[in-house]
Amino acid sequence: MDLMEYQAKELFARHGVPVTVGTVITDASEAASAAETEGAASGGKVVVKAQVKTGGRGKAGGVKLAQDAQDAVAKAGEILGMDIKGHTVHRVLVAPAADIAEEYYFSFLVDRANRDYLCIASTEGGVEIEVTAVENPDAVAKVSIDPLVGVDDAKADEIVAATGFAADVAAEAKQVIQRLWDVFIKEDASLVEVNPLVRLGDGSLEALDGKVTLDANADFRHEDHAGFELRDEEDPLELMAKEKDLNYVKLDGAVGIIGNGAGLVMSTLDVVAYAGERHGGVKPANFLDIGGGASAEVMANGLHIILGDPQVRAVFVNVFGGITACDAVANGIVHALEMLGEEADKPLVVRLDGNNVEEGHRILAEAGHPLVTIVDTMDGAADKAAELAHAAGA
Ligand SMILES: Nc1ncnc2c1ncn2[C@@H]1O[C@H](COP(=O)(O)OP(=O)(O)OP(=O)(O)O)[C@@H](O)[C@H]1O
Ligand SMILES: [Mg+2]
Repeated sequence: MDLMEYQAKELFARHGVPVTVGTVITDASEAASAAETEGAASGGKVVVKAQVKTGGRGKAGGVKLAQDAQDAVAKAGEILGMDIKGHTVHRVLVAPAADIAEEYYFSFLVDRANRDYLCIASTEGGVEIEVTAVENPDAVAKVSIDPLVGVDDAKADEIVAATGFAADVAAEAKQVIQRLWDVFIKEDASLVEVNPLVRLGDGSLEALDGKVTLDANADFRHEDHAGFELRDEEDPLELMAKEKDLNYVKLDGAVGIIGNGAGLVMSTLDVVAYAGERHGGVKPANFLDIGGGASAEVMANGLHIILGDPQVRAVFVNVFGGITACDAVANGIVHALEMLGEEADKPLVVRLDGNNVEEGHRILAEAGHPLVTIVDTMDGAADKAAELAHAAGA
């Protein structure tokens, strides 16, 4: 789960990382009192910041400085409702305007390729960090961290030295790094990023932004993490899938996909994307793994979610019959279509293989649903589904 900036800062505060969380508001009229409180120690000046789960907010006009309470109301009004890379702004954060002397970049992340953790840091942080990383890679330090050792005293010193923090901030930087490491490890995060981590006019450090991704597999260890879920920010189809215990991820394409087993579904996405190149560039619309069983109910839930996506123009059901054999899956499909009735209004390409495949085909053929096409091979079925999706959109 990705956290919003204000949530990341709440987590930082719990671990002693220097931050000022600020006040979150959802309506511009609330900005005046928020600005009066937050701006008390910064001469009335505050920043108004869009809270969306994507980067580049500043460049998109989602981070604005306000001179006083009235200005904060105006800026909040401009930012609320704004679209930033497909994310509508429902919340803004009002925080004291900081007196920034220097901006640093700092992150801990999981380095899958090397099976360890990685720290990326730079004394040239801020909104141009991506440019710095390309044009001046030497200014960006990368320090790998042995997961069995973590960031101990020696590693923290190594990170401080590699980043090149000036001598007069080195001691405080080391402490902030160790506290950010606590956030990363104790909260089971897969990413902790601070850009910018700033040095203020008085020489102290503060995290002015925060991006945190929490590992949902560790949710059982963190009851408090459920409090970070923002239902109004989630995709409604993904929410529905979660309620039905389905593994669903919405994507941008037109070919809905249902499969059993994450590996099979992943490779189905690949073959559909590949086949789509021959059919107007259509792409997969989702990832949906219905898991081991393929009862009529599970199949109906899956189809209900996929058909609820207005971008979907054809559906590819790709199932390998194992413990749940193909005849059971075919019955599941037939009954699911009965349950859905007129809601099932888009072509369905079905490919079955594995246990009892002949019986599965016979059941589907006998049902003779007008929207169902049976194709024997995975590549052939992907091609057919892409063709139908393209035709439906033309
Ligand atoms: N409290 C603050 N006081 C003064 N300036 C601020 C404050 N918060 C942010 N800024 C300025 O706005 C810039 C962008 O803010 P922030 O990093 O939060 O947004 P961002 O767009 O998420 O950046 P990115 O996506 O590149 O990390 C900062 O680099 C900083 O210069
Ligand atoms: Mg930032």
